[in-house]
Amino acid sequence: MARVALVTGGSRGIGEAISKKLQAEGYTVAATYAGNDEAARKFTDETGIKTYKWNVADYDSSKAGIEQVEADLGPIEIVVANAGITRDAPFHKMSPEQWKEVIDTNLTGVFNTIHPVWPGMRERKFGRVVVISSVNGQKGQFAQVNYAATKAGDIGIVRSLAQEGARAGITANVVAPGYIATEMVMAVPEKVRESIIGQIPAGRLGEPEEIARCVAFLVSDEAGFVNGSTISANGAQFFS
Ligand code: CAA
Repeated sequence: MARVALVTGGSRGIGEAISKKLQAEGYTVAATYAGNDEAARKFTDETGIKTYKWNVADYDSSKAGIEQVEADLGPIEIVVANAGITRDAPFHKMSPEQWKEVIDTNLTGVFNTIHPVWPGMRERKFGRVVVISSVNGQKGQFAQVNYAATKAGDIGIVRSLAQEGARAGITANVVAPGYIATEMVMAVPEKVRESIIGQIPAGRLGEPEEIARCVAFLVSDEAGFVNGSTISANGAQFFS
């Protein structure tokens, strides 16, 4: 039977590309979203991939949602913690609310997504966890103290989980995208975006599909010895 893959934030942006790629690879995919019902409906109409609405920042909602996915589709063997938000502001202007919203969604949301599926993966002696970080978690970014903290945190989460899961057949890895052509990056003021593209040796933004291909490799059965790693896909913008 096809393995079941959960992709948070899986109906738009990088998550959408990941959901589609995993479906094309033969997995049964469930995609979560937080609020945009119209985009989720359109995505399901186009792909046939089932979507589920919950807030990854809330543990009880995540746990209940995951139980529903497993009741519908079977045990989740692959989890891609992709859902994330930005609330950019220079540090002297960043409010405690902007800090908390990003921490709750991007960092606690990763805990809330993986924690409920972890016991089942341990029992079945198989699991694939991928967390989507960012080049900005590796190098820091002006106006992103909150976001960079969460994306650096992803790497710590994965390196710890890799050690805990290794003997149970579970791998945990990070994909750290650079600037990818999604709504999130298009929301950056054009002048700033142009100057960022100028710092990317590839001379362009990445495509969501270029991230999805990294994920497809990491979740494959054949990638069992790749554990605790970070794949950077950033057009040579930064090496870590
Ligand atoms: N480095 C140094 N200085 C910078 C800068 C940078 N990267 N970006 C802006 N500044 C400077 C500006 O030139 C300006 O300087 P002056 O005051 O001397 O003119 C100052 O900082 C901006 O100050 P403002 O008070 O005008 O700032 P603001 O409150 O209006 O905020 C901003 C503007 C939020 C910083 C806006 O410039 C912005 O969105 N920048 C982009 C941040 C960014 O890269 N975010 C990444 C989003 S994509 C993503 O996160 C996906 C991923 O994983 C890669």
